[in-house]
Amino acid sequence: MKKIEVMEKITAKVEKCEKCRLCKEAKNAVPGEGDINADIVFIGEAPGANEDKTGRPFVGRAGQLLESLLGEIGLSREEVWIGNIIKHRPPKNRDPKPDEIAACEPYLTVQLRTIRPKLIVTLGRFAMYYFHKGGKISRDRGNLIKVDSKKVGSVLNVYPVYHPAAGLRNGRFREALEEDFMRIPQILKEIELEQVQNKNSSTYREEEQKGQIKLDL
Ligand code: URA
Repeated sequence: MKKIEVMEKITAKVEKCEKCRLCKEAKNAVPGEGDINADIVFIGEAPGANEDKTGRPFVGRAGQLLESLLGEIGLSREEVWIGNIIKHRPPKNRDPKPDEIAACEPYLTVQLRTIRPKLIVTLGRFAMYYFHKGGKISRDRGNLIKVDSKKVGSVLNVYPVYHPAAGLRNGRFREALEEDFMRIPQILKEIELEQVQNKNSSTYREEEQKGQIKLDL
């Protein structure tokens, strides 16, 4: 199956998903959007009110800050892929529950297996925990973490930063976000250099060459 077909299938599955309680109160699912060939993906926590209304990720005030931070490093939202670990809005924006995160996990797993980004920027602590269980956002933000993901089938380059919503509430978090975003281009260059050196042949790439991307949802 081609990359675009896999992504469209996941979107269709997410839109019909009833795997947890969140679909009952949500208006729309938010599968994620952007360039499926992007080098960088940005992963947030869960849709808020604006995202629930539109079915699109990061379109509220936090999204505006994300777009402005992207602009500072010469990127637009169309040039990256943006998604969340949870695809339906939790009521009153409460924290997602472990069983909701677990129910939603296969979607992002397949999305990442398909996009194969060089760099995954996690926005906030929930997105960081998703990849790096023992993480601590105040300590780990702005540091590249290598995560050997059995599910995604490769070593992931995960770069945690604070959530843009935290940057809107607190000037210190906003400064940290700006500082961490400014390092993204250099981090990407280092990853690219490393990948050239390793001739990185991921499990996924072998599957793809054999035309065997599985939609295990
Ligand atoms: N916050 C998130 O974590 N995700 C969104 O899509 C919007 C706000």
